Amino acid sequence: VAGGCLSVILLGASGDLAKKKTFPAIFNLYKQGFLPNDQLQIFGYARSKMTDTELRNRIRGYRDMEDSWILSCSWQVTYISGPYDEESGYIKLSEQIASHENNKCGTTCSTRRLFYLALPPSVYPLVSRMVRKHCMNPHSLVFGVHVTGGWSRVVVEKPFGKDLASSEDLSSELGKLFTEDQLYRIDHYLGKEIVQNLLVMRFANRFFVPLWNRDNIANIQIVFKEDFGTEGRGGYFDEYGIIRDIIQNHLLQVLCLVTMEKPVSLTPEHVRDEKVKVLRAVQPIRDEDVVLGQYEGYKDDPTVPKDSVTPTFASIILHINNERWDGVPFIMKAGKALDSRKAEIRVQFKDVPGDIFKCQKQGRNEFVMRLQPSEAMYMKLTVKQPGLDMKATQSELDLSYQQRYQDVVIPEAYERLILDTIRGDQQHFVRRDELRVAWEIFTPLLHRIDEGKLKAVPYEQGSRGPKEADELLNVRAGYVRTDG
Ligand code: BG6
Repeated sequence: VAGGCLSVILLGASGDLAKKKTFPAIFNLYKQGFLPNDQLQIFGYARSKMTDTELRNRIRGYRDMEDSWILSCSWQVTYISGPYDEESGYIKLSEQIASHENNKCGTTCSTRRLFYLALPPSVYPLVSRMVRKHCMNPHSLVFGVHVTGGWSRVVVEKPFGKDLASSEDLSSELGKLFTEDQLYRIDHYLGKEIVQNLLVMRFANRFFVPLWNRDNIANIQIVFKEDFGTEGRGGYFDEYGIIRDIIQNHLLQVLCLVTMEKPVSLTPEHVRDEKVKVLRAVQPIRDEDVVLGQYEGYKDDPTVPKDSVTPTFASIILHINNERWDGVPFIMKAGKALDSRKAEIRVQFKDVPGDIFKCQKQGRNEFVMRLQPSEAMYMKLTVKQPGLDMKATQSELDLSYQQRYQDVVIPEAYERLILDTIRGDQQHFVRRDELRVAWEIFTPLLHRIDEGKLKAVPYEQGSRGPKEADELLNVRAGYVRTDG
């Protein structure tokens, strides 16, 4: 990325997210030549007491960081420890950033400051105020036009609140401190390869354009499964539950891209305008369209209260009241400690009218986009069983990324999104009004769950989830099972 000095400031640098996702993404971008060679400086800020070297070693021990580290030994990671609520830490941070900028770039060059908040939600407003007060780039105007081409951008991680009211509070707090074009609300599902392919698939293929509607599609599932439980994150997870953790953000973002109308162009505002429009057409969620579950053994986690009723599984049918989608059920399913790790979009088409091949026995046409593991897209088709008999059978047209794009390394979602932030492209980030509608959709249901009006049923670890979810899918959403 061309430009001047780049400072990446990671607040919450000693945490899990920084270690597992943010630091590796920055290192990989650097390794691939996307970040300025000698004008980059990484600043870690957190409460834990640590030296620069300790932080470096901590990052280094993670996954394939060793290699990247050796390749990039010329540059620096600086750690600053300080409480989140004391000005002195931020003043020190600001001095260090300024000194790096002066050393590396002098005063003539444009300076860029990327603040990444990988923090517990409770300290977002506080830290944001401190950053705004002490650390913003003096070489760019905070509100208004950039003077030298320099900038300050702030990446915030979910959870953006717990419901509509708390999210709106947070939004207004942040809105007082930063302009919307400085704020990058990250949802890492928007950085996944197959998710980014959705608009291309839908709007660049004549195959799909005429079929993508209520006349042809019977139902659509958007599924997230993990084959492990909360694993040390029980304390955080129990406060939020699976709907806030996965469905209200990651799966809903995918739903937007599956269902929105074609944007006028790919500019961030045109794309996000269409997402907001379709979200506004989502109907209130009915209790009979919801199945909640909690895996057995969840409460054995010492950080989870013994009487927790938090769902670790949810299957929810959504309806979109517009011309394209009226009557089509969208099943959003997410669960922890299930039988496999998988995320996919499964579009099931209606039966062919006037069937002469007994197709129903074979199953319906489906188009599946697998986000992970192993990105793939495949179509389930009815074909003639090869041989002398005229017999129909189901087969697949299969695009497996591993086979088809052997030489391409698919970038990690965080890599892509951090690069977008540096490039100033907000298309794959959540706009404030989008966030608001997302909360409007789920808040009434979440409140009913919090009030104990809907209960989670237990399910066995390593299973497909509660059997009630299969009933919901088959009976209420009309899904016809075609695979084992
Ligand atoms: C996070 C959730 O946002 O996404 C986690 O908080 C979840 O609970 C994770 O495990 C899943 O991300 P991915 O990219 O592994 O599907």
